[in-house]
Amino acid sequence: MAALAAMACAAAPVGAQEPGFRGVDIFDSACYACHTEGIDGAPRIGDRAAWSARAEKGLDALTENALKGVRGMPPHGGNSSLTRLQLERAIVYMVNASGGDWVEPPDPRPAGSERSGAQVYQQHCALCHATGFDNAPRIGDRAAWLPYTKLGLDPMVRTAIRGHGAMPPRGGKANLTDAELRDAVIYMISAEDRRGPKAGKAEDKR
Ligand code: HEC
Ligand code: HEC
Repeated sequence: MAALAAMACAAAPVGAQEPGFRGVDIFDSACYACHTEGIDGAPRIGDRAAWSARAEKGLDALTENALKGVRGMPPHGGNSSLTRLQLERAIVYMVNASGGDWVEPPDPRPAGSERSGAQVYQQHCALCHATGFDNAPRIGDRAAWLPYTKLGLDPMVRTAIRGHGAMPPRGGKANLTDAELRDAVIYMISAEDRRGPKAGKAEDKR
């Protein structure tokens, strides 16, 4: 096992220039060796008791410890090319695989490069919300949205961020910002009285 662990440590370090890496990719390449086996007392992924106790500290405190190292945990998980964002994502991945319900932080985005609600909807939400896939409320279907809209915008935006049932967190696109999701939700619910332009076409394909 020692040899295996050493191999896993040596395998492909994650590039610091790639903010797009998901938590699972970072975990597999940099944290797996210790956090799967529990080497040196590392909290094992999937061990709810071990992780829920640590998760109570919150993501910032856990990330600080992962950055500077703590006892058997080397700084940056032993891989100095990992950025803070990448560590955060790997931590969120471990917490969630151990009974947690956290959201992976999105890529930072230069100011002014946000996408509009309509753009986000077309690219990332229409897939399900134009067709009603998996019972997603359809754009333009007033009755389907009513149970959500009557609770107000904030709960809907929170669900769009965290996901719910068949609705994936951030519509399945981790780098959408909270503000972009909010605009996309507003776009969908304010389209209540008309069908989205793609609704008919998408339906025909099914
Ligand atoms: C060489 C083994 C090793 C590697 C590789 C490793 N860890 Fe750890 N990690 C540990 C050990 C051991 C602990 C337990 C430290 C303690 O609290 O005594 C730990 C604890 C942690 C904690 C809990 C810190 C706290 O405040 O309770 C976090 C978060 C963490 N690791 C994240 C990561 C991430 C993210 C990676 C991959 C990028 C990683 N670790 C890679 C050994 C490792
Ligand atoms: C893979 C399919 C899928 C994609 C992609 C998707 N959704 Fe959803 N969405 C659903 C489903 C299914 C529901 C109904 C979930 C439920 O309530 O059980 C839903 C529900 C919602 C709700 C109402 C949730 C509530 O409880 O308040 C909002 C708001 C929402 N989606 C926003 C979005 C936004 C914004 C996007 C694009 C960024 C998006 N969705 C992309 C499937 C999807």
